[in-house]
Amino acid sequence: MQDTINQYIAEINAASPANADELETFRIKYLGTKGIIKDLFEQFKSVSAEEKRVLGKVLNEFKQTAEAKFNQLKETLDSGLKTQDSNQDLTLPGDGFALGSRHPLSLTRIEIVDIFKRLGFVVAEGPEIEDDWHNFSALNFPEEHPARDMQDTFFIKKNSGQDDIALRTHTSSVQVRMMENGKPPFRAIMPGRVYRNEAISARAHCFFHQVEGLYVDENVSFADLKQTLYHFVQELYGEGTKVRFRPSYFPFTEPSAEMDVSCTICGGSGCNMCKYSGWVEILGCGMVDPNVLENCGIDSKKYTGFAFGMGIERITNLKYVIRDLRLFSENDVRFLQQFKTEII
Ligand code: PHE
Repeated sequence: MQDTINQYIAEINAASPANADELETFRIKYLGTKGIIKDLFEQFKSVSAEEKRVLGKVLNEFKQTAEAKFNQLKETLDSGLKTQDSNQDLTLPGDGFALGSRHPLSLTRIEIVDIFKRLGFVVAEGPEIEDDWHNFSALNFPEEHPARDMQDTFFIKKNSGQDDIALRTHTSSVQVRMMENGKPPFRAIMPGRVYRNEAISARAHCFFHQVEGLYVDENVSFADLKQTLYHFVQELYGEGTKVRFRPSYFPFTEPSAEMDVSCTICGGSGCNMCKYSGWVEILGCGMVDPNVLENCGIDSKKYTGFAFGMGIERITNLKYVIRDLRLFSENDVRFLQQFKTEII
């Protein structure tokens, strides 16, 4: 019996269960109710009195060893460490791990935000689920404006019976919230996701990302707007990039304009990105309509302001010559990995 016990002790010392299941097998084998130790104690009952004196001690020690080993193995496994494999070569270099990459839209957003931060703009955020007031009415959208139509806006039916809740269609809603809740001057940009009820194709998606901006203070003029956006474009696309403003219309700005830059791909000589015009449109802008300022509790006699808004997808498409919007949300690593070197 002594020899058998010695053999078991050697076995126990060498045991290295790799997981909780193997540890449980170990416990059942030695310490279980039908286990080896229980069995040895049974056999012990029928040995001679003389043998008992010696064996009793050995058997008890064996039991303690098995229990101690079990506790130690359990602790090692619980702390997530595998028992050391004596064959492991600790001088080998560790397994490297692959570094992820930023999403191209994040890269563009970071770049845009960075430029405006250097001009003293702060970043403001707001809810993606909005009410009619913040998304439309405060922004001077007339009651019958087509943008409120089901075809353009995702309305949300709420149990509360409120039927004017929608996914925001632009981050101008954040401008309203900011003006309602603070006092001029305001100098902020609003990056965020927006939603429109469009059929998904290479050129349109039901959601996209914007950076809008707002500057309200005394004596803010259209010249300030032009200079700010001109500077932005020089920073984003490089010195010498040309800009032009075309008159446009938005309910919340007056006058309104759309801004084009000389084609970032061909430099203005004409290519299929700019449809051979030499210009590409990148944003909408204008002087904040006095009605909007008044809707937000700001004295439009004392304060003026400008606002602008751009699509991050559009800027990214122009920068990396991406022609299909769907690539941004498909999570295809073959696409995403191409932006690996651009981690900021
Ligand atoms: N909110 C406009 C849009 O979503 C962009 C814009 C913002 C235009 C501010 C002018 C001024 O298209």
